[in-house]
Amino acid sequence: MTKIKAAITGVHGYVPEYVLTNAELETMVDTNDEWITTRTGIKERRILKGENMGSSHMGAKAVEGLLQKTQTDPMEVDLIICCTTTPDFVFPATANLIADMVGAKNSFSYDIQAACSGFLYSMVTAAQFIETGRYKKIVVVGADKMSSIVDYQDRSTCIIFGDGAGAILLEPCEEAYGLQDFVLKSDGSGVEYLVQKAGGSRRPPSIETVTNREHFIHQEGSAVFKFAVTNMAEVAAQVMQRNNLTGDNVAWLCPHQANRRIIDATAQRMGVNSDKVMINIHKYGNTTDATLPLALWDYEHLLKKGDNIIFAAFGGGFTWGSAYMRWAYDGKK
Ligand SMILES: CC(C)(COP(=O)(O)OP(=O)(O)OC[C@H]1O[C@@H](n2cnc3c(N)ncnc32)[C@H](O)[C@@H]1OP(=O)(O)O)[C@@H](O)C(=O)NCCC(=O)NCCS
Repeated sequence: MTKIKAAITGVHGYVPEYVLTNAELETMVDTNDEWITTRTGIKERRILKGENMGSSHMGAKAVEGLLQKTQTDPMEVDLIICCTTTPDFVFPATANLIADMVGAKNSFSYDIQAACSGFLYSMVTAAQFIETGRYKKIVVVGADKMSSIVDYQDRSTCIIFGDGAGAILLEPCEEAYGLQDFVLKSDGSGVEYLVQKAGGSRRPPSIETVTNREHFIHQEGSAVFKFAVTNMAEVAAQVMQRNNLTGDNVAWLCPHQANRRIIDATAQRMGVNSDKVMINIHKYGNTTDATLPLALWDYEHLLKKGDNIIFAAFGGGFTWGSAYMRWAYDGKK
């Protein structure tokens, strides 16, 4: 019997209209376009403006577009997994809000939190439900309003992050397409390097936590940088090796977009040419859980059925991982 695989059968994204350029950041903190461009590769990022709108707003837009594009009736969706590091509320789950907003009344839904590796963790988790034969249509949506936790007085973090959402549809495939392999890792001892210190149960909100700016992202950039460069490439190389993949037969690397230098180092270590690396960091910065689906969305029109795609990500926790996907359809836009 052919083993059922979970194939991506559609991808869609949503980014808010407001563009925060390096030039505008120059008016907010002591930085400049040249520094940001050479150290990170980022030129601009999108920011969700407007009252009472959280990550679910962008997630729902991405999912609505996905369902329309794939001609999927929302009532047919079995499960919605949302990965987000900036949920609308601590509870209920953002996935739950999105399911309601898009009319996926027959689905159940839950969130996964793995910082910037959230999309990879969620895609792999969703694939397990497909591979067992239990479900037929699963939406994975990554949505983050990073601007809600970025300190726009901290020049080392405010230049990096942006807002956005991206979604994929996963369906069963009995041919040789879909998710082939993955390695997922985590190490909670990395908490000190990348963390939102307050707002959770350990340090609930108080006047002190607000005064100390503890509700914003705290990042020790160079420690995270070193960790990312070493570990993201290592798991990607592991996935490639055990599937007999080389820089030649990998069609695309879809890496997390946190710093252009980390992406380049990863590609180099994997032996993948730069023209096969999906890049959109210059437009969106690091959109955390939305990064990988937004990259797929941008490159979808270039993808061909049978393309070997390697995903690679890392994030706070630490979390990191890599997955190997054989693309299931010819690109269209
Ligand atoms: C944050 C990051 C861009 C900083 O770049 P870096 O090359 O490591 O720079 P450093 O932190 O060593 O700082 C070098 C100098 O630049 C300064 N600097 C930091 N941000 C700056 C900015 N936006 N503009 C100008 N100067 C800046 C620092 O203050 C420091 O100055 P000093 O030498 O006088 O103390 C980089 O470390 C990084 O990308 N880390 C990984 C972040 C990441 O991937 N996060 C997401 C995880 S999912």
